[in-house]
Amino acid sequence: MRRKLAAGNWKMNGERSTLGMLEALARAHSGGAVDIMICPPFTLIDAAAALSDAALITIGGQDCHSESAGAHTGDISADMLRAAGAGAVILGHSERRADHGETSDDVRAKARAAHEAGLIAIICVGESLAEREAQNTLDIIGGQLSSSVPDTATGENTVIAYEPCWAIGTGLTPTTDQIGEVHDFIRTRIERRFGAGVGRSVRLLYGGSVKGANAAEIFAVSNVDGALVGGASLSVDDFSPIISALE
Ligand code: G3P
Repeated sequence: MRRKLAAGNWKMNGERSTLGMLEALARAHSGGAVDIMICPPFTLIDAAAALSDAALITIGGQDCHSESAGAHTGDISADMLRAAGAGAVILGHSERRADHGETSDDVRAKARAAHEAGLIAIICVGESLAEREAQNTLDIIGGQLSSSVPDTATGENTVIAYEPCWAIGTGLTPTTDQIGEVHDFIRTRIERRFGAGVGRSVRLLYGGSVKGANAAEIFAVSNVDGALVGGASLSVDDFSPIISALE
């Protein structure tokens, strides 16, 4: 019942020429069996949206402000993303929490703004290595979930991405048991808060060193509905096998 989703987070990477891969991806996965999303830097969103057939590939931002307009130098509103052609936005990525001091309260306000603008909010949660080693993973994830996910969440407008900070860009991944434990926990928490209907329809992505080589194993884990992919989403050769593993 939940459609699988392969989402690429380009972070501060990619040029206009990189957008050529959108057409190649659309050709390679024209069956539409899986939802595909690409989140390029702000400067490429307009061009990406113009190039991609929205039915096959959704374009997303990597952050937005919680207000719709105003004196916020350097920021972008959810409405602006929408106007540029985006259909989604990544919020609360650990790099934003670390580099920009974003709190879960900030993330919740941004997610609400994204919902009001008609965007899908991909809300990221994840523990640090120290938190995992101290066996605090589920406490951390539980706290981030309750504070970062707004009451406006539905199965259509919200995706939750579990990204352990220590697995991002490191080549390290949790065991499938560890991924399953966290994803089952998130599912239970969301069901308890929003009821079974919404709770069962929100998609849960795993993110952190997903590659073609480990994708199938990760996607076989319960409550993993797809992936949020960083480095391996920057080329067709790397991203396409991950999408294929979901098809
Ligand atoms: O948001 C995706 C991300 O943080 C994972 O990055 O490069 O480990 O796939 P990467």
